[in-house]
Amino acid sequence: MALPAKVRIVEVGPRDGLQNEAARLTPEQRAELIEELAEAGFTEIEAGSFVSPRRVPQMAGTEQVLQRLTPRPRVSYPVLAPNLRGYEAARAAGARAVAVFTAASESFNQHNIGCSIAESLERFAPVLKAAQADAVSVRGYISCALGCPYEGAVNPNRVAELAGRLHALGCQEISLGDTIGAGTPLEARRMLATVAARVPMEKLALHFHDTRGQALANIWACLEDGAAVVDSSIAGLGGCPFAPGAAGNAATEDLVYMLQGAGIETGVDLEKLLAAARRVCKLLGIMPRSRMALAGNWRSAGH
Ligand code: HMG
Ligand code: MG
Repeated sequence: MALPAKVRIVEVGPRDGLQNEAARLTPEQRAELIEELAEAGFTEIEAGSFVSPRRVPQMAGTEQVLQRLTPRPRVSYPVLAPNLRGYEAARAAGARAVAVFTAASESFNQHNIGCSIAESLERFAPVLKAAQADAVSVRGYISCALGCPYEGAVNPNRVAELAGRLHALGCQEISLGDTIGAGTPLEARRMLATVAARVPMEKLALHFHDTRGQALANIWACLEDGAAVVDSSIAGLGGCPFAPGAAGNAATEDLVYMLQGAGIETGVDLEKLLAAARRVCKLLGIMPRSRMALAGNWRSAGH
């Protein structure tokens, strides 16, 4: 067992979290949340999406969110940009990092972005070309890496092949999405190993939704095998509007508590994160979905 000394957490709550909440926060409220997360020590905070506001109204006004953020040399605020139009809008708003997204399932891609896997890659090619010229970093997401809400089981070889294509196109990092929280630890480990045979492990990130309570166990299994970049969502918010019934990502507070317990560095101040989690849930009018926000930080209570 070779656990990493440090894990880079990509906080996706302001995007993956808020995109699937019934209550819509204003760009100002979303920017405040991101500022709080930066204050809590995160260095990568997904700030929103340049997608159709008709399809994902919660992400409308992402340009206003970006414009309100304090530039910090060590903090990156990536945004989703599924096509050249989205990329250009993101750049005009000052984005310096973007993410493209596709899926290892044809049906899910049709529901999510209205095109086939092959067409999605064609759309990404000009985005990656422009990003290279602009020195903008690009992450590539693969949804349905451990199962699809429409097609069922997904062969890890399909995920690996797609990861190889995204890597060849120029994506600096590939995030492996268990969109519907279908996977379990040994399945997650098998999928990761299959992908890592095609794309170097240090280029891979874990993006596991917690629909069935498996996300932390899946993350832990993959950390033991060399993964060191993990996506998570403050207060366990969100899900994907095009994956029926899918819950939010692994809750960041729970992830940080688990990593701290293993002596793994994250750079995150758990108390500040918990305060931000409680505040955003109040704004959304929901109960926090993380266990930490409900139970409190046992360690800070002097134990
Ligand atoms: P399209 O190819 O134009 O096709 O858009 P469409 O028919 O779906 O387009 C719908 C509308 O979007 C049209 O406008 C376009 O003009 C417009 P309308 O005629 O309805 O007024 N449009 C745009 N608007 C703003 N920005 C753009 C843009 N491009 C076209 N860049 C598109 C394709 C992907 C934009 C569209 O299908 C869409 O917005 N889909 C929503 C995708 C989305 O945000 N999904 C959730 C995020 S992905 C996710 O959660 C998974 C992830 O977390 C990983 C995991 O968990 O697995 C990343
Ligand atoms: Mg997601």
